[in-house]
Amino acid sequence: MYEHYAFALYSPVPYNLIMTNKGKLSTAPYKGVRDFYPEDMAVQRYMFDVWRMTAEHFGFEAYDASILEPSNLYRAKGAENAEIINEQTYTFTDRGNREVTLRPEMTPTVARMVAGKRRDLTFPVRWYSIPNLFRYERMQRGRLREHWQLNCDIFGVDDVSADIEILLLANEIFKNFGAENGEHYAIHVSSRRLLEALYDSVDLSEDARREATRLADRKNKMEPGDFKEKMTAICGDAAKDVLTYLNADNINVVPEGIKKHDAYTELQTLIATMEETGTPVVFDPTIIRGFDYYTDTVFEVVDLHPDNNRAMMGGGRYDNLTEMFGGEPIPGIGFGFGDVTLRDFLESHELMTTDITSPTLAVLPTDTEKNIAAQKLAQHFRNAGIATSVDVSNKKVGKKIANAGEQFIDYALVLGEDEIDSESYTVKDLIEGTELSGTLQDLIDQLTNNG
Ligand code: HAM
Repeated sequence: MYEHYAFALYSPVPYNLIMTNKGKLSTAPYKGVRDFYPEDMAVQRYMFDVWRMTAEHFGFEAYDASILEPSNLYRAKGAENAEIINEQTYTFTDRGNREVTLRPEMTPTVARMVAGKRRDLTFPVRWYSIPNLFRYERMQRGRLREHWQLNCDIFGVDDVSADIEILLLANEIFKNFGAENGEHYAIHVSSRRLLEALYDSVDLSEDARREATRLADRKNKMEPGDFKEKMTAICGDAAKDVLTYLNADNINVVPEGIKKHDAYTELQTLIATMEETGTPVVFDPTIIRGFDYYTDTVFEVVDLHPDNNRAMMGGGRYDNLTEMFGGEPIPGIGFGFGDVTLRDFLESHELMTTDITSPTLAVLPTDTEKNIAAQKLAQHFRNAGIATSVDVSNKKVGKKIANAGEQFIDYALVLGEDEIDSESYTVKDLIEGTELSGTLQDLIDQLTNNG
């Protein structure tokens, strides 16, 4: 559907340019959010199209909800995430004294929607959405205060086959952007349940588990010696097995004590099946994920470009989240895939498309007196199904042709006195540099065959 080329995109407004000019209102957007000028909108549409197309290819159905949620949705047991709720939400009290939050993520919302219709839904449910989310974060590359996120989730399947399907879908999306697994990105997987099995096997206290997990999450940012020392201080005699586990680069080299656990067998099945489907995943026991609701498989997709050190996609299995709405819990697994990190990824690896929505043809009158004739001619092309724009500016025709090329328009028709008199036109192919000529009908025939 789309071709992949590298091209220069408009860079977003630097955040520090949010200033006023002599008391006038600033034209900059609110801190940490973006305006989408047409160039950026074209990129966003491309990314969303690939997301939607791939999710639907796997049989996922679209859903949506409001950006506003009652704040207690993020405070209920099971959904809480201390960092996001205490430090990162936009929360306010409405005129009716209700506490309202701009959604920081979609998972509690989709769990609420599935739980609300549990009697009417046919499980398994496969749903996707592309919500905009708000987090009051410290801004840096790959982190803004508003981002869009593709969410794909499966509800009602508690075996590992759903985990495999979700990872295959994640990989397929990257493939459809023209990216290669292992060259441009890597899928890192782990299991919360297996980590708990490890702690059980060495009889670690609840407090030590919490601290060890927090430290494990920071492992890749620490010196190995420092990490070992701190882990030993937390775990005492159990540190040897905990360190063997967290240093494992392969599922076969984890401590023997957990190899009989079914969380181990399941993760092994997942990794082996992914390998068999030609979609390798990397066992990475340091993948922890910030949300407390994950219960089992957890994963992140990392960008292998050195400029991009943020995960592009994260997700996992959360089997108890719907419990907060009452009734039997409905198992869920899914991921969120952010637009900011995706755009950085596509640009860094030169995978961004130029096939953005632009007209096929530009009609370029040689001077403003031909503008009306140009509008009439353009309308004939549009009536024949050819997307056509008209450049009615008073620029020189050479400049108009150059502008059409910059806007990724495929063909240009220069309309001067001779063309109007003879009713015979020449269309220049701006990509190939070739020309077509003939009457209006000849050109419509040729362009519709070509198009
Ligand atoms: P998350 O890891 O918080 O997971 O976000 C998923 C992805 O969204 C990240 O890998 C990143 O690409 C993008 N992202 C997150 N925060 C920001 C930000 N401030 N600016 C730009 N991009 C960002 C979740 O949100 C889970 N609810 C995903 C999930 C769905 N789990 C199961 N189903």
